[in-house]
Parts: sequence; C-alpha cells; structure tokens
Amino acid sequence: MACTLFFNYGVSSRYCKALFGSFAAFLLSAMPVAAAGAPPPLKAGVVSGAEECGSCHKEVLGKWKDSMHAQAVTDPVFQAAYMQAFLDSDGKAKQICLECHAPVASINGDANLKETVTREGITCHFCHSITATHPNGKKRFDVKVGTLLAGPRGGGSTSYHTSTKSELHRSADLCAACHEYEANGVKIMGTWSEWKNSPQAAKGTVCQQCHMPLENSVNQKGERISVFSHSLAGGHSIVQLRKGVVVNIRNVERFNDRTVVDLEIENSGAGHSLPTGIPTRKLVLYVQVTGADNRSQKKSVIYEKVIFDRKGKELTRDSDIMQGLGAVIAKDNRIAAGEKRKEQVVFYGATPSEISVTAWVDYVYQPALLQNTEMRVEMTRTERSFGR
Ligand code: HEC
Ligand code: HEC
Ligand code: HEC
Ligand code: HEC
Ligand code: HEC
Repeated sequence: MACTLFFNYGVSSRYCKALFGSFAAFLLSAMPVAAAGAPPPLKAGVVSGAEECGSCHKEVLGKWKDSMHAQAVTDPVFQAAYMQAFLDSDGKAKQICLECHAPVASINGDANLKETVTREGITCHFCHSITATHPNGKKRFDVKVGTLLAGPRGGGSTSYHTSTKSELHRSADLCAACHEYEANGVKIMGTWSEWKNSPQAAKGTVCQQCHMPLENSVNQKGERISVFSHSLAGGHSIVQLRKGVVVNIRNVERFNDRTVVDLEIENSGAGHSLPTGIPTRKLVLYVQVTGADNRSQKKSVIYEKVIFDRKGKELTRDSDIMQGLGAVIAKDNRIAAGEKRKEQVVFYGATPSEISVTAWVDYVYQPALLQNTEMRVEMTRTERSFGR
C-alpha cells in the first residue's frame, strides 16, 4: 500500500522500496512487540498454534519450522512407518507413536490428527508447558497448558503470556521424555542414557548446548539479540553430521600376499553413541586400497544396533522396531561418546608397489518409503599414499 502511495507521486519502484524499507523500520522501532495483529490471549487447557507464538517470536518460529520437531507428524518417512505399524497392529500402534510424534493429540483428544495444531508435532506451546518428565514412565510428561510458559531465563511477562524460569528446560531431562525409549526390556533408543555416561555429561554439557546453540538474531525492534536455535540439527543436517566423527589411517603394513591397514575411528563431537536415535541409522567405515594401475579393493565396517524379534529374526523395518516387536539386542557396536575405536582391515592378494589408501565414513539411513530410498552422507574422509 505504501508503494502505491509513493507511485502516485511518481516515485520509482526502486526508490519506493528503499523508502518503504526505512519507513517500515521506523514504524517497527516505534512499535511494541507485535502491537499489530497480536493473537487472541492463551486459554487454559488449549494448545495454541506455532504461528500465534511466531507473531512475536518470529526468529524462533522460522528455525523451528525447519526442525524435525515441526515435521514429526508430516515427515513422509514417519508417515510411511506409522501407516505400516497402524495396519499391522489393527490400530494399536496409534497410541504408541503419537505419544512422542504428536503429543498434543492426548491433550485435545485429536487422535485422528485433524487439527493443524496436532499436526504441528512437537509444537511451541506444548514444549514450553512441560513441567516434569518421566522417561520410560507410563506417562512421559506432566503438562500444564495455560498462560504461564516455562523458559530458560524466565524473562518477560506480556499481555499474552507470563513466563517462569525452568531448570527442566535447561536440562537433558526435557529431551529424555522422547529420546529414551524402552519396550519389553529392549532399549530401542537410548540417546539420553548414552549421554548420561558420556564425558560431555560429566563436564555438564547438555543436549541443548550442542543442538540449540545461541545464535545472533534481530528482534522486532531491530535490536541485535541472541536466541537459542530451535532448528535442532541432527541426523538430517550435513553440517551437524560432519561434527561427529574423525577417521585416521594409523599404519599400513605390506606383505607379499596381503596389506594390513590399521585405522582409528573417533566419535569426536556427539554427546552420545554414533549413530544414536532409531536403530536403523548406520555408520559405515569404508577403506579402499588403490594401486598405480587404478585397480582398487574396498572393504567396510558397519556400526549399528541390531534388534531381533522373539523368533530370532532381525527387525529391519522402523514400523516393527518402533512398535516394540523386538525381544533382544543382537548386536550393538556403535561408537560411544568420546570413544576412539581401533580397526584393522586386511586386503589379500599382491598389490603393486605404489598404493594409496583412502578411508571415509558414510551415515546411512534406508527408510521404507513407497520406493526404497536411501539417505547417505559422507561424514569424513582421509587418504595416504604408501610405497614399498
Ligand atoms: C504478544 C507477543 C507474544 C506472543 C504472542 C508470545 N510471546 Fe513469548 N514472549 C514475549 C516477550 C515480549 C517475551 C520476553 C522477551 C523475550 O524473551 O523475547 C517472551 C518470552 C517468551 C519465552 C522466554 C521465557 C524465558 O525463559 O525468558 C518463552 C519460552 C516464550 N515467550 C514462549 C512463547 C510461546 C510458546 C508462545 C505461543 C504459545 C509465545 N511465547 C507467544 C512475547 C510474546
Ligand atoms: C515430545 C517429544 C520430544 C521432546 C520433548 C524432544 N524431542 Fe527431539 N524429536 C522428537 C521426535 C518425534 C523427533 C523425530 C521427528 C521425525 O523425524 O519424524 C525428534 C527429532 C529430534 C532431532 C533431529 C534428529 C534428526 O535425525 O535430524 C534432534 C537433534 C532432537 N530431536 C533433539 C532434541 C533435544 C535436544 C530435545 C530437548 C531440548 C528434544 N529433542 C526434545 C521428539 C521429541
Ligand atoms: C522440544 C521442545 C521445544 C519446542 C518444540 C520449542 N521450544 Fe522454545 N525452547 C526450548 C528450550 C529447551 C529452550 C532453552 C534452550 C536453552 O536453554 O539452551 C527454549 C527457548 C525458547 C525461548 C527463549 C529464547 C532465548 O534465547 O531466551 C523462546 C522465546 C522460545 N523457546 C519460544 C519458542 C517458540 C515460539 C517455539 C515454536 C515456534 C518453541 N519455542 C518451540 C524448547 C522448545
Ligand atoms: C557434545 C555435543 C552433543 C551433545 C551433548 C548431544 N548431541 Fe546429539 N548430536 C551431536 C552431533 C555432532 C550429532 C550428529 C552426528 C550423529 O549423527 O550422531 C548428533 C546427532 C543427534 C541426533 C540424530 C540421530 C543420529 O544419530 O543421527 C539426535 C536425535 C540427537 N543428537 C539428540 C540428542 C539428545 C537428545 C541429546 C541429549 C540427551 C544430545 N543429542 C546430546 C552432538 C551432541
Ligand atoms: C519414546 C518416543 C517415541 C515413540 C513412542 C515413537 N517414536 Fe519415532 N522417533 C522418536 C524420536 C525421538 C525420533 C528421532 C530420533 C532419530 O532421529 O533417530 C524418532 C524418529 C522416527 C522415525 C525417523 C524419521 C526420520 O525422518 O528420520 C520414524 C520412521 C519413526 N520415528 C517412526 C515411529 C513409529 C511408526 C512409531 C510408533 C510405532 C514411533 N516412531 C514411536 C520418538 C518416538
């Protein structure tokens, strides 16, 4: 509208934008937070949608929208597994899955995910209303939905909500409610307990410090502020993944009939096992020996948690695993937080005099969608040459 106004006075569109920009900035600087279009007041027992919070907390809303928390229901990978689990269990899986992926459903009774706020997954008003958590308990969290919101600083009472300082929101116990999952005595996800045994936990570094770091932002008044990031980068973030692991070729010994490669793979940056989370995520270390003739041999080591059902069959589908159909953990060679693991890989057969050895680590996740889809991220790579 402002530009139409300027146009009438013959102001060029570029000039208009510049003018309008500063005009808007002037307006905003004079405005109290969200004076215009402030949402209706919060009501006890009613979970408000993220967009409402975003009318004042714009920067937080933007980051949260990118997070897997915002996509915990709409994520196609979840949807495919959820549908399968639902069909296989005659609907019984619904209650299991929604408790963590759509926790609002048990507050508004919307188990069929009809309301927008339920489909928002782990949404603002829900998370900031948690008063206590009980990992693996019958009820995972106590929630008091109202106008008093729990936050890290307890700063700021507005006409819209008051706030209280919450130690829980600065603690790993908040995350534990959903990131720790045991069924029939089988630990399906143990991110929280892995963290509790980590050197990071011993130093007091909690999940939030790595997954919700303070970032520079600008508030509605145009002031520079630091805000805890809500994007919660994890296994879907290439940047985050590359913080996790380092691989080194320590030694290569050459014999007439074989080449022996000694390596070390280190969980250098994660405050829990690598990988963590749902068991179908895998880490693969590849080692390749290439001769001057460009002929090469490749071998791999897989780091994973493998779960068997009661009949001793390996469970490979997220839908089966997350429903709790597992009976025993058959293998768990994931790399613990801070651990440096030594590996030896042997290549048989004569190799040419000059060789180069390359090692790299891929993060692999193959969820069952309609077509088999694979997610693969190279996390780190190293290469060395060796003569005889
Ligand atoms: C009318 C504007 C407005 C709306 C709407 C709003 N807030 Fe706030 N909120 C504020 C202001 C102002 C502060 C204090 C300054 C700050 O921390 O940015 C604040 C602070 C907070 C804090 C920090 C408390 C602390 O520990 O310092 C949290 C958490 C919070 N709001 C969550 C929410 C959630 C969740 C919603 C939606 C249900 C929401 N807010 C909606 C204005 C608003
Ligand atoms: C109400 C349950 C709940 C709570 C509380 C919760 N999460 Fe999550 N989180 C989830 C679910 C469910 C997903 C997966 C969503 C999907 O991919 O469908 C997830 C995803 C993530 C991811 C992304 C993983 C990836 O593969 O990209 C990270 C990182 C994460 N959460 C960290 C945290 C941290 C840190 C906290 C505590 C501050 C926390 N979560 C609290 C349920 C929760
Ligand atoms: C998984 C639970 C979770 C969800 C979902 C979530 N938050 Fe937060 N929020 C937190 C935690 C935990 C902190 C404190 C981080 C810390 O102390 O490191 C926080 C901090 C904040 C703060 C204080 C920021 C600061 O730097 O002082 C505001 C404001 C806030 N959240 C608003 C929101 C809004 C708005 C949404 C939705 C768009 C949202 N939160 C979604 C857990 C959550
Ligand atoms: C010292 C930093 C650090 C701490 C502390 C930490 N994480 Fe992570 N986290 C990472 C890094 C780096 C990755 C990416 C590498 C990887 O996939 O493990 C990651 C990945 C993840 C993933 C994605 C799953 C996966 O394996 O790809 C989830 C979920 C997660 N973290 C949740 C948590 C929770 C919950 C806590 C607290 C109980 C926590 N993290 C504590 C650094 C940390
Ligand atoms: C205890 C809480 C909890 C329960 C119960 C739960 N989930 Fe999850 N789910 C999570 C968390 C936390 C993550 C993210 C961990 C990670 O990234 O590895 C996740 C991730 C997933 C993912 C991976 C999504 C992606 O895009 O990477 C799928 C698929 C999934 N869950 C399916 C299900 C199904 C189906 C059910 C019900 C049978 C279920 N979950 C029950 C907490 C839970």
